[in-house]
Parts: sequence; C-alpha cells; structure tokens
Amino acid sequence: MSRTRMLVSQCEVGTIIVEDVKSYQGITLVAKGSVLNQYILDRLTDRGISSIWVYSLDGLASRVTLANMEQVEGSYTEAVLVVKQILHELSSGGKLNYHKIIQLSELVYGSVNSSLNVIKCLNGIRDKDEYTYTHCVHVAFYSMLIAKWLALPKEEIEEVIQAGLLHDIGKVLIPDEILNKPGKLLESELDIMQRHSLIGYFSIKNEMEITQPVKEAVLSHHERADGSGYPYGLTGEEINLYTKIIAIADVSDAMTQDRVYKKGVTPFVAFEMFQTLGIGTFDIRILKIFLKNIAVNFTGLNVIMENGEHGEIVYVPPYEITKPIILNGSSFIDLSGTDRRIVSVW
Ligand SMILES: [Fe+2]
Repeated sequence: MSRTRMLVSQCEVGTIIVEDVKSYQGITLVAKGSVLNQYILDRLTDRGISSIWVYSLDGLASRVTLANMEQVEGSYTEAVLVVKQILHELSSGGKLNYHKIIQLSELVYGSVNSSLNVIKCLNGIRDKDEYTYTHCVHVAFYSMLIAKWLALPKEEIEEVIQAGLLHDIGKVLIPDEILNKPGKLLESELDIMQRHSLIGYFSIKNEMEITQPVKEAVLSHHERADGSGYPYGLTGEEINLYTKIIAIADVSDAMTQDRVYKKGVTPFVAFEMFQTLGIGTFDIRILKIFLKNIAVNFTGLNVIMENGEHGEIVYVPPYEITKPIILNGSSFIDLSGTDRRIVSVW
C-alpha cells in the first residue's frame, strides 16, 4: 500500500491514517494507524487541519473493512484448540510437538495487518475456564502486534508468536490447586508457581528447531527491567527483545482477564497501571509504542459506564489514552477531567 495526502473534506469514514496528525502546538491529535470516523473528521475540521496522510490503493484512499474479522476469529479458535491439544499431550508425558507450534505461528501471522480486528476479537473473549489455553493465544496475538509496531521482520514476528504460544508451557507441571487457587498463594506455593518458567525452558532447551531467543523468552518472561523479576533478577539489557515484548503482552492480558481468584480490570485501567507502575518495570520504549498503538485500536469498541449507560468509543486521545470519548445515543461523553469510569469493554 502506498500513501497519499488527502484533503480532510474528501476523506471518508473508514480511511486509515498513515502518519500522526499533530496540532499547530505539536501535540499528536490522531495517531497513525487510526481509522477515521465522523467524530475524528469533525474534530480535525474544528482544529483547522486541512489535509492528512492516508494509505492509498490505486490512487484511492484505502478503507478498513471488517471482512477479515472472520479470518481472525477462525485463527484464534484454531490456535486455542491446538494449544489445548499440545498442553494435554505434554501434561500426560508426551513430547512437545514443535511443528504444530511453527504452523500455528504462521496461521496467527495471517492476522498481522488486522490490528483492529485482533483487538476487537481478543476483547470479546471472557472464558476463565479455558484461561490456560486462551492466555497463551492472547499473549501470542498481542506480542505479534507489538513486534509489528516495532517494525520487526516477518521471521522475527513469527518467532515472537512462538514465544508467546510457549511462554507458560511450564505450567502444565504446576499442580492445579496452586494454579487455580482462589486466594493468595502461600510463600511455599508461590515458590512452586514461579518455577514454571524454568520448567518450560528445560522442556524445550534441547529442541534444535527452537531458536535461542525463543527459548530465552520462555525462561525469562517474568524478568523485569528493574531486576525485580524471576528466576534470575536480570536487569535492562540483560533481557532480550522477545522477552521484553512477551512480558508486556503477558501482564496486559493477565490484568484484563477474569480469573477464579480475581476479576479482570478494563483495558483503560490496565493502561493507567502501565503508565504508573510500569515505568521502570518494563522496557520504556516498547511500553510507549505498545500503549500508543493499542489505544488507537480501541476506537469502535463498545463500552458500559458505571451508571449502566452504553456507548461506542469514537476517539482515544493519544495524549490521554485513559480518557476516551464515547458516543452515547446522539451525544458524546468526554471522560477527561471526570471521575467517570468504564466498567466493561468489548
Ligand atoms: Fe508465566
């Protein structure tokens, strides 16, 4: 796809923006990758922005369609089934079927250019009974998007997907009563739980077809930039790129999913937590890229407010991603400067 500069007055709803649109003061108003809707077009006109860079196809603006939503959902469903099968085989003493993981990473990669649909698909899923399998697949999809936003080449994105699919395989050997304990873990139980990254690593260590960075990501996905992670307390540049990507995808999904022992928070609360607690814990450059790009893709999703009002997200300001604008009937709810909360997103 090439790019073209178009007059805002000639842009249609659904057109994809290819470069950040900035105000005259240099503030990013609409981030690249955003899909234009009527709200954004009106605000650009209000701000006096006359033209913007968009993707084009044969000289025409390229518009996003939801046609490939079915493809994303199909890949997701198949990935969950295959991961379930692989983990069952492993837990009953079988060998890891790595060919299936490679095939699966290629299947997942098929959704690489559908960020909007991937995020819509993953946000629509709440299945705590199947958490172990869905979590691995969620992490694989989110990690793929982060790797794409970092502009990694295809082969590396596929390896990142493999690392996402495999990152928690060590959990097959952790007793269920610890894995799904409905309360806080005792120190001794936490110690056993934290062994899953080492167990996972040792189960793939001698697998010749798995590349070293993928093995390292499985081993170190709980390491943190400030040295607070495990098993080795690595810091900063001791942690490899795939690990840094998987760590953000893993925590993002873990925060937002319901578990037997806790209710998941909304993605907007997760963004807030990343912006406060995440600084220093995660690689700051990757965290910024993740937050900026993921927020863009929440436009078009549905929400429920704390008072029961329903609405659709029409704009997520890049400078305040935790305060989206919501279309409620024919009026807008602007969350900036208010304590109003979103309680559900899908
Ligand atoms: Fe883990």
